[in-house]
Amino acid sequence: MTGGREDGTTGVPFAAGRPDLLPSRLSVRDDFPILQRTVRGKRLAYLDSAATAQKPRVVVDTLTEFYLQHNANVHRGVHLLGEEATIAFDEARETIRKFINAASADEIVFTHGTTAGINLLAQGWAAIRLQPGDEVLLTVMEHHSNIVPWQLAAHRVGAQLKVVPVSPEGVLDADEYKRLLSPRTRIVAVSHVSNVLGTVAPISRMASQAHEVGAIVVVDAAQSVPHMTVDVRELDCDFMVFSGHKLYGPMGVGVLYGKKALLDRLPPWQGGGGMIEKVTFDATTWAAPPSRFEAGTPPVAEAVALGAAVNYLQGIGMDRIRSHEDALLEVATEKVRAIPGVRLIGTAPGKTAVLSFVLDDIHPHDLGTILDASGVAVRAGHHCAQPLMRHFRIPATVRASLGVYSNEEDIDQLVTALGDARKRFLG
Ligand code: ALA
Repeated sequence: MTGGREDGTTGVPFAAGRPDLLPSRLSVRDDFPILQRTVRGKRLAYLDSAATAQKPRVVVDTLTEFYLQHNANVHRGVHLLGEEATIAFDEARETIRKFINAASADEIVFTHGTTAGINLLAQGWAAIRLQPGDEVLLTVMEHHSNIVPWQLAAHRVGAQLKVVPVSPEGVLDADEYKRLLSPRTRIVAVSHVSNVLGTVAPISRMASQAHEVGAIVVVDAAQSVPHMTVDVRELDCDFMVFSGHKLYGPMGVGVLYGKKALLDRLPPWQGGGGMIEKVTFDATTWAAPPSRFEAGTPPVAEAVALGAAVNYLQGIGMDRIRSHEDALLEVATEKVRAIPGVRLIGTAPGKTAVLSFVLDDIHPHDLGTILDASGVAVRAGHHCAQPLMRHFRIPATVRASLGVYSNEEDIDQLVTALGDARKRFLG
C-alpha cells in the first residue's frame, strides 16, 4: 500500500497519466505465489485475468486443507467428516449469498461454471417459457456461452434471437434495446461486463424495461463479479451466472443465482442423486432448489475454496478493487493508445478491466506470441465473441486484462514489449 489515507486511498480524484494520483493503489502481488515465478526468463506480467484469475495462497491452502482434513461427500454421510464437509459447503453458499446480496441461500446454486449455468437456464427456462414466434434478446457483445445455448433452445421451439448492437465506442444502443423489446420478448440475456470491450451494461435500467414487457433477465456476470460490487437485488435481475475461476477461486465451480419464485418453477436440468424428493420406476419428484439443480456430487472442495476467495476479496473491499483497476486501466489506455498504429477496440465511458486493441496489421496471435517472449501474458484471438469481431470488422484483438494484483510495472512491461514488437515487424 502506498501513501494516502489509512484505508489505502489517497482521497484525491483520479488524474489520467498521473500515477502518483491513483486513488487506491493496491499492492497484493505477494499474496499470489504464481506471480513470483519467471516465464521465459522474464518477470511475469500476467494480463490475462479475464481468461482466468490467478489464485491467492489462501484459496490454494483452503483447497488443500479440505482434501487433507475434511474430505467427504455432502448431505449424505452420517460421519464426522461428512458433517464437516457439509458445514463448509453450506457456509460457502452463505458467503456467496452475502457477496451478491441474494435474499436467501436457497437462491444460490453451485454449478460447474458460467457456461453450465446458462445451459441450465436455456434448457430449463426456455422449455417452460419459449413458444414458436417468441424472442430472446441478446446483445452483440455476448460471449459464445451466452449466445449458443439460447440459439439451441430457440431453434428447438421455433423462437428467434434478436440482437442489440453497440456503438463504435462499444456502448450498448439503448434506443435499439427499447425498440427490440416487445411483448414477444421472453428472455433478455446480457453480459454485465463485456469480456472484449470492458463495457458495463446498465443492468438495472435494462431489467426494469424488460420487466415492463414481461421478460425475464439473465445476467452473465463472469466478467463483473471479480471487479465490482454486484448486488442482485439492486440490479433486479432474475437470474445471474458466474464462474469461480475468474473470481480467484478454483476451476470447475460456478454459481447460478435465481429469484426463489423463479427457481421454484424451473424444471431440473440434469437428473441423478441429490436432486430428488422421491424416486420410483414410474415417476420421480424433485427436491426444492438449490438441490434440484445440483445432481450428483457437487464440486465441494472448489465451492469451499471459492468461499475463501470471496472472503479474501471482501477483506480488500470490492469498491477499492474497482477503484484500483479502473485507475490502472486508465493509465494503461493512455500508454497503449500513444503507441503509433494502435487502434483500441472498446472505449465506452465507465468501462472496466480489459483493454483490447489491434496494432497496425500485425496479427494479434503473432503479437501475443512476441509479448509472451517478454514475459507478458495476454489473450489474442476472437475471445469467444465472433459476432462482436464481425461487428467491428476485425478477425481478432490482443486483450490485456486486469486483476486485483495488476500494477503499473505490468503495464510498463506490456508497453515496452509492444514497442519492441512494432520495431521488429515494421522496422
Ligand atoms: N471467457 C474467457 C475469456 O474471455 C475465457 O477469456
